[in-house]
Amino acid sequence: MIDARDIWIGPSVLSADFLQLGDQLLELETAGADFIHFDVMDGRFVPNISIGLPVLEAIRRGTSLPIDCHLMLDDPGWWVEAFADAGADRIVFHAEATPHIHRVVQSIEGKGKIAGVTINPATSLTAIDEILPYVAQVLIMTVNPGFGGQSFIEGMLEKIKRVREMIERRNSDCRLEVDGGINQQTIREVVDAGADMVVAGSAVFSAGNSPSENLAALRNAIQ
Ligand code: DX5
Ligand code: ZN
Repeated sequence: MIDARDIWIGPSVLSADFLQLGDQLLELETAGADFIHFDVMDGRFVPNISIGLPVLEAIRRGTSLPIDCHLMLDDPGWWVEAFADAGADRIVFHAEATPHIHRVVQSIEGKGKIAGVTINPATSLTAIDEILPYVAQVLIMTVNPGFGGQSFIEGMLEKIKRVREMIERRNSDCRLEVDGGINQQTIREVVDAGADMVVAGSAVFSAGNSPSENLAALRNAIQ
């Protein structure tokens, strides 16, 4: 069981109020968020378009927290340099989106950033088995990427457990991130399954209370 103090929680700005984004980022930084999750969608790899480089540059100026950039786009290798230069600290790309996973990891690290790889709910763990020793972060999607506010896919708990075992065997420093459908109940389940880096969008920005109160409720759920 992972120490609760070592579990990072990161708000996903996809669900933020963009008219209040600067204030919300400051509020969350003060409230102890561990990182900011930044979702990039290209309308091809996923059926939606979100936010891109100018917004990332603005967020970089608005927070000192690490920015975890989740690239939901085809051919991520083309975009590594631009998102690194715009202020990402960690760059996570989909294994399904490129045949050159190792090359993309090298180019992220070549820019001095932390590299992570992710897979969709129905993609087998064999897609990341060979790259695991080379990455600092694996993201297991617990919804189909493209939209905030979807329901957690319960079957992914078993997959998270298997990734935790793979990490223990092959790369014990690797962070195991989970993204999609996180709330006060599912955060407990994914942490019990082995996650140590959790993304939360609607549970932080549209769960009734203020973002800082919602973040505190998520943190309390794993104490
Ligand atoms: C989904 C995105 C997520 C999204 C999560 O495609 O990758 O990061 O913001 O939102 P919630 O937490 O509302 O499921
Ligand atoms: Zn995401």
